[in-house]
Amino acid sequence: MYASTKEILEKANKEGYAVGAFNFNDLEFLQAIVEAADAENAPVIVATSEGAMKYLGNGDPFRGARMAYEMVRTFADSVNVPVALHLDHGKHLEFILYALRTGYSSVMIDLSDKPFEENLEGTKKVVELAHPLGISVEAELGKLAGVEDNVSSRESVLVDPEEAKKFVEETNVDFLAPAIGTSHGAFKFKGEAKLDFERLKKVKQYTKIPLVLHGASMVPPEKVELANKYGAEIKGAKGVPADALKKAIELGINKVNVDTDLRITFMAELRKYLTENRSQIDPRKILGAGKDALVEIVRDRIRFLGSNGKA
Ligand code: G3H
Ligand code: 13P
Ligand code: ZN
Repeated sequence: MYASTKEILEKANKEGYAVGAFNFNDLEFLQAIVEAADAENAPVIVATSEGAMKYLGNGDPFRGARMAYEMVRTFADSVNVPVALHLDHGKHLEFILYALRTGYSSVMIDLSDKPFEENLEGTKKVVELAHPLGISVEAELGKLAGVEDNVSSRESVLVDPEEAKKFVEETNVDFLAPAIGTSHGAFKFKGEAKLDFERLKKVKQYTKIPLVLHGASMVPPEKVELANKYGAEIKGAKGVPADALKKAIELGINKVNVDTDLRITFMAELRKYLTENRSQIDPRKILGAGKDALVEIVRDRIRFLGSNGKA
């Protein structure tokens, strides 16, 4: 069923588990994510970035938003588990308006690279537009910068818990993504992986709302190895360690954003399939090999987050 992100995440917040928010850009990823959630009897959030909107609309993001909505609606209506559609990293008001007009379940307004007051005012405006439509809003505080060895520069980009309190009170935002040391992509940590759990604990204490972890891919080494074996060149890839992700969930993360794990899995399996099936020309077989592997990794992540059986 097509669902409200807020309902999904408030239940997760109350019961102490996390729900996966998986990015998709095409039909195969969406098919796999919904199939996995259905098989695990789990609520799920599917997300399009602004880039995904453009891609789905073949250059036209508004067309892409409608395409995403219609596809998700069709899949959601055919299963019994809650499926919500979210705009990930909305940075431009027009993309947010497309999502609001189209019927997305939730939007993210990402002004995390702007000064605090600007982030606060911009988020407040989006909340005022979204809430009357029954659409919930996520914002981000601190920056998901790359990994820096220098602790003082790292600190300066991480969330300030006092600011988080003020931000949530004044904007009435529904979910908050606090920067605690993760970053997007396959290269998250130079050396030891460090997340700032003290900061996370305080942000939860002060805000009590569902919190979001961006850059939460674990970057499975076996998929990286598989990709490299079949011609990829990915060196030094490192994701969020399992124990760190578990701890973050225990401390109040309820939405876990995953894109890179799916990208690497799909690419690795496609490389393998194409190498081993050199005469194959049927896209259903080729893309199907990637899709089958996506179902497995999404099921695996759902179980890890504890949202299996929570539909
Ligand atoms: O957080 C970013 C997501 O991985 C989406 O990335 O902007 O390349 O679609 P994208
Ligand atoms: P990863 O790159 O770790 O998958 O993070 C995805 C994300 O944060 C999407 O918003
Ligand atoms: Zn993100």
